[in-house]
Amino acid sequence: MGVDISSTGIKLVELGKTRHGYELKAMSVVPLPRDAIVENTVIDSMAVAQGLLDAIEMARPSTRNVAFVVSGNAVIIRTITIPTMTEFELEPQIEFEADQHIPYDIDDVYLDFQILGPAPDDDTQMEVVLAACKREVVEDYQLVLNEAGLTPKVVDCAVFALENAAELLADEIDVVSVPEAVVDEEDVQTYALVNIGANLININVLHDGKMAFVRDQFYGGNNLTEEIQKAHGIGYQAAEQMKLESFSSIKAEALESFYVGLTSELVRSLDFYAASHAEHPVQKIFLSGGTALVPGIAGELEQRLGIEARVLNPFSVIKADERKFDRDYLDRIGPMMMVPVGLALRSFDA
Ligand SMILES: Nc1ncnc2c1ncn2[C@@H]1O[C@H](COP(=O)(O)OP(=O)(O)OP(=O)(O)O)[C@@H](O)[C@H]1O
Ligand SMILES: [Mg+2]
Repeated sequence: MGVDISSTGIKLVELGKTRHGYELKAMSVVPLPRDAIVENTVIDSMAVAQGLLDAIEMARPSTRNVAFVVSGNAVIIRTITIPTMTEFELEPQIEFEADQHIPYDIDDVYLDFQILGPAPDDDTQMEVVLAACKREVVEDYQLVLNEAGLTPKVVDCAVFALENAAELLADEIDVVSVPEAVVDEEDVQTYALVNIGANLININVLHDGKMAFVRDQFYGGNNLTEEIQKAHGIGYQAAEQMKLESFSSIKAEALESFYVGLTSELVRSLDFYAASHAEHPVQKIFLSGGTALVPGIAGELEQRLGIEARVLNPFSVIKADERKFDRDYLDRIGPMMMVPVGLALRSFDA
């Protein structure tokens, strides 16, 4: 079961595996008060624990074991290049290596690594992904999950959960059209997974199936809500409601400001990526997160960025019992559930 505790709420997804693929077993989405999670850390643990209890009661999952997610400033992900060695050899050295790349005191973080493979231009070296998260942030999530009777088994980073969920959709994603002229370049593909939530964008650029760039950026649906507040002279709640319930009455200027901001944030990341990967430009963008539900967002970004964009829905490939789940509802909120789906998939890792 995956549990995504984010700024606007808790998303719980339990998946099962059958011979014919994955099946949705339980799901719930429970809103949280605005100050419960701030900048991706637990502030009001009582409210979060209560939200978890509500989520469990609604979903009635068959397990209490969960994978949860961390994101934002507490998380540091770096790809480093070091002399080739086995995982077994690297394990005792990893803190030493990490110390030079992680801006926090190494004793204050949880640390993990994964060997990516040989470095592209030097076969005595290999690339390793380091992932670190501040201990207190992880522990606060663990505490609140325990309080709700849940057993945290796995902690993941949002960008990795996103990548896991995208693997489910490989058939849809792998259809990047390669122009005839560059067919020689085989069908090596570069695409960006862009998950836009309320306060955060999680970006993961994959080249040839491998993580080439990740970043969490502070921008999202809250910025649109704020633009609506300004343009219409209304409060936060009213603006949020307008966004969700009468989108067509939003003034064009509010949408324009939101898109200008969003585009410049994305360009910033894409430029950063391009600075070290100029030969592999991003060919396609796959959107998810609650803000991917903004009507017309893929077309807007496609125009503004000049890169093909599409919205991903993990439920397009996950079976669900029609007596328990409403298909239309699943397909409507699907893009918002990419991260919790990616978390739930972790239970099937060896
Ligand atoms: N139908 C919709 N149309 C427009 N915006 C929507 C819609 N549904 C949800 N949103 C927006 O999506 C955002 C919530 O998305 P999501 O659940 O992915 O964020 P979150 O995970 O809670 O936040 P974060 O990860 O940034 O802390 C909110 O800003 C919400 O207003
Ligand atoms: Mg989120």
